[in-house]
Amino acid sequence: MKNGKVIAVAGKGGTGKTAIAALLLRELLSVHGDQTTSILAIDADADSNLPDALGVACEKSVGDIREQLLEEKQRNIALDLRSQFEGKISAIMAEEDRYDLLVMGRPEGPGCYCPVNHLIRVIIDTAAQNYEYTIIDCEAGLEHLSRRTTRDVDIMLVVLDTTQKSIKTALRLQEIAREIDVDVKKLLIVANKIPEGAAEEFQAIASSYGIELDEIIPFDPLIIEYDSKGRPVVELPDDSPAVRAVRRIAEKIRSGKTL
Ligand SMILES: Nc1ncnc2c1ncn2[C@@H]1O[C@H](COP(=O)(O)OP(=O)(O)O)[C@@H](O)[C@H]1O
Ligand SMILES: [Mg+2]
Repeated sequence: MKNGKVIAVAGKGGTGKTAIAALLLRELLSVHGDQTTSILAIDADADSNLPDALGVACEKSVGDIREQLLEEKQRNIALDLRSQFEGKISAIMAEEDRYDLLVMGRPEGPGCYCPVNHLIRVIIDTAAQNYEYTIIDCEAGLEHLSRRTTRDVDIMLVVLDTTQKSIKTALRLQEIAREIDVDVKKLLIVANKIPEGAAEEFQAIASSYGIELDEIIPFDPLIIEYDSKGRPVVELPDDSPAVRAVRRIAEKIRSGKTL
């Protein structure tokens, strides 16, 4: 059992969560050429595209299994949900060389605390213990985190860009992180898509809102180019500015400096 670190990537839609989650996965796998690192990537945003960013095909989601199990349970009361679910979840997990990917898909209905949902969380939490890192590409509202049961979040990257909306969302997320029933050990505030030469100016804007930035990821035209061509961002060159910035975050996480 590795009982590794859980890293959540949160922030307003469009700020670059998915790109950052994908690049972070790549950098955590590649730092120091360490071949032993294992990662579970969870795409928790219903409107997300982590598989595309990673260049992985992932057809089925946890939401699909949930629907299927709920139907089967209605037909057969004696069904052992846990073993059924465990079998199905490994079937939908995309297993890459050094990491696994799980797509959550359709969200639970509002206020739905049925046994299947509970089970899903327990099993994902159990699965996460077998990896050195679990990276969760979050939906904006963090609802899924607040309904998680057992695991804490070691590091939450709160991503914002130069838009005021994303700054306000980041402020709200800091509040939510304090309020949810999950212990978030460390927040790392990351400004993304910052134009060259504008870092200081943006730092000043952020601090006028009471936000101290931990990392700045520059605007990187190659990310746009890759996205528009449908190329996975994990294939960006090693020396691309965004990749280098995410590498710094990965190194902090690896060295434990963030905690
Ligand atoms: N550092 C960056 N420089 C330039 N464009 C970026 C950068 N990071 C993300 N983008 C672009 O911003 C858009 C949103 O990114 P995405 O990762 O999908 O955000 P989110 O997951 O938060 O919705 C995409 O078009 C992507 O190409
Ligand atoms: Mg996304």
